[in-house]
Amino acid sequence: MRSNGCGNLRKKHIDSFVQLCGWVDRCRDHGGVIFIDLRDRSGTIQLTVDPDQGPELFAIAENLRNETVLQANGSVKSRPADAINEKLNTGEIEIQVKELIILNKVKGNLPFSVSIHNEEPIKEELRLRHRYLDLRRERMQQNLLLRHNTIKTARAFLEEEGFLEIETPVLTRSTPEGARDYVVPSRVCGGDWFALPQSPQLFKQLLMVGGLERYYQIARCFRDEDLRSDRQPEFTQLDLEISFTSQDEILGLNERLIAAIWQKVKGVNLNLPFKKMTWKEAMDRYGTDRPDTRYGMELIQVNEIFKTSGFKVFSNAISTGGSVKCITVKNGNKSISNVRIKPGGDVFSEAQKGGAGGLAFIRVRENKEIDTIGAIKDNLDPQAKETLLEITGAKTGDLILFGAGETTIVNKSLDRVRQFLAKELSLIPQEQENSQWNFLWVTDFPMFQFNKDENRLEALHHPFCAPNPKDLGNEEEKWNDRLPKARAQAYDLVLNGLELGGGSIRIHNPDLQKQVLKTIGLSSEVVQEQFGFLIDALEMGAPPHGGLAFGLDRIVMLLSSEESIRDTIAFPKNQNARCPMTQAPGNVSTKQLEELHVASTWVDPE
Ligand code: AMO
Repeated sequence: MRSNGCGNLRKKHIDSFVQLCGWVDRCRDHGGVIFIDLRDRSGTIQLTVDPDQGPELFAIAENLRNETVLQANGSVKSRPADAINEKLNTGEIEIQVKELIILNKVKGNLPFSVSIHNEEPIKEELRLRHRYLDLRRERMQQNLLLRHNTIKTARAFLEEEGFLEIETPVLTRSTPEGARDYVVPSRVCGGDWFALPQSPQLFKQLLMVGGLERYYQIARCFRDEDLRSDRQPEFTQLDLEISFTSQDEILGLNERLIAAIWQKVKGVNLNLPFKKMTWKEAMDRYGTDRPDTRYGMELIQVNEIFKTSGFKVFSNAISTGGSVKCITVKNGNKSISNVRIKPGGDVFSEAQKGGAGGLAFIRVRENKEIDTIGAIKDNLDPQAKETLLEITGAKTGDLILFGAGETTIVNKSLDRVRQFLAKELSLIPQEQENSQWNFLWVTDFPMFQFNKDENRLEALHHPFCAPNPKDLGNEEEKWNDRLPKARAQAYDLVLNGLELGGGSIRIHNPDLQKQVLKTIGLSSEVVQEQFGFLIDALEMGAPPHGGLAFGLDRIVMLLSSEESIRDTIAFPKNQNARCPMTQAPGNVSTKQLEELHVASTWVDPE
C-alpha cells in the first residue's frame, strides 16, 4: 500500500511520486491550503492539499479528524524557505497531495492526544487503559525500538560467544526466588497445581547437567510481590548459564555483554572492568547492597566515639550490639532546617520509613563550635568532638545526621535519608556521561540472612548458590557449623543505585545442596518432594557451573532514561498488578472452576 515511510523522505526524493500510509497527527487550515501531518512508525511528514486539486479531494482533507488512518498519494516538493521546520527530519520537504484514501475512521472522542505536538502530561492509568493508542506516541515507539535493539545486540553477542538460546517451561514447579508464586490449577491432574517460574533457575542448571554448556534465554518470569516502579509481576530476564567456569569469567563476559549493549544502543563506550565492592563494604559505607556511587555522603560508623557517651540513646545502641552511624551533609545548615529533621519533617519521615525512631543531628558552626538540640552536645567531650569532626570531615556549615540502634535499621534508614537528600540537594549528576554510568559489582554476599518472623535462616539470593570454599573448607562434618556464616560466591551488578542483575556459582555437589536446603529449615522429606529431581540430577555427573540474570526491563529503563519499567514494556500491569486495558485478572465461570477442581473462598468486602 505504500512506497516509503513518512519519516524516511528527504530532499533527495523531491519530485518523486510517493504513496504513504499512516495516522493523521494533526490538520491545520491555513487560508485555503490544508496542512496534514501524517505519522507512521518512521516519523511524520507534512501533506499539503490545495483547493485547485479539486473539490472532492479538498472536502476529504477538510473533514479529517486526528488519528484517522489515511493513505496519501502525491509528489515530494521542497518547502518554501520560510516554512522549513527544523524540528522534523522531514522538515525541508512536503507532499503535494493528489489523492487521499481514508482507510479507517475514528469514532467518538479520543481519550487523549497522541500527537507529537502534545506536551500535556497524560494520566498513566488512561495510557494503560488505551495502551494501543499510547503505543502510537513517539516516546513509546522509541522505547520499544530501544528494547528491540538491546535484545538484538545481546543475542548477537551471546551467539558469538557460543551460547545456545533454549526455552524452559512456563508451567512448572515453584522456583524459589523469594517472592510468592503465581499458580495455575491443573484440570488433567486434579488437585495439583503448576507454578509459573519466578526465574528459569533450576531448568538452566539442569541444562548444564544436560551438557548444553552455554545457555541463554530472553525469559519471562512471574513474581507475586509488592510492586514498585522497577518491579512488575511479569517481567523479562536476560538469563544465562555456563559450565566449567569461574566467577571471574562470568563477570568478565557479562561486562563485555553490557558494554556491547551500551555501545550499540547508546553509542557510549564504557570503561572495563567495572568496579567491585564486597557486600560488607557496601553495607558499611552505604547501608545498602546496591549503592549509588555517583555521589558521596557515605555512612561512617562512630561507635568508638560514643560507646562510653552519657548520651544513652547512642551508648545503649552500641552496648546492645547495634551501631551509631552518621552522614555529613555539606552546607546542610543552610539547606536543611531543624523542622525537617524533627518529627513531622520530610527528612525525619524518610528515616522513619527505614525503621528508625528518629534522627539525632549536630550542626557545625564557626571555629568548630557545634550546635544541636537534645542531649548529644552536653555529653560530647572536646576530644570526642575533635575526633568526630576529623573522621566525618565535617566543616563549618555542615550538618551531621545520626542513626543509632540495630545495625540493619541504622543502615536502612540512613540509606533512605542519603538517597532522599541526594535528590533534594541535586547531588546526582544529571548528564548520563560515561563517568556517570557507575556500574558496580557487589560480591561476596552472605549465604543466608535471618528471617525474624519465621525464626529461621533464609537464602539471601536463592538456595542454589555455592558457598565460598574458603569459608566452608573440605571437612564435611564441619559444614553444619560453618555454612550459616559462610559467604556465597554470589554477585550483583548495580548501576547508579539500581540492581540490574545478579547471579552466582552454583552448588554441584548433591550433599552440599542437601545441607544448604537443611540450613534453611527444610526437612529431608520436603527436600525430596520439592527438589528430589535436582538432587538426582546433581548425583548423575553435574559439571561445575554458574550464571547470571539481568532484568531486561530495567536495562531498557536506564538506557531510555525512563523512571518506570512500565514505560519499557508494551503491555504492563498497573500498581495493583492489573491490566487496565483487558481488566485481567478477571472472573472465571463456575463451570471452569469445577473442571479445575477449584473452589473459591473469596468474599467480596463490599
Ligand atoms: P534475581 O532474583 O536477582 O536473580 O533476578 C535477576 C534480575 O531480575 C530483575 N528483577 C525484576 N525486574 C522486574 N520486576 C521484578 N519483579 C523483578 N525481580 C527481579 C532484577 C534482578 O537483578 N535466578 C536468579 C539469577 C541467577 O542466579 O542466575 C534470579 O532470578 O534486575
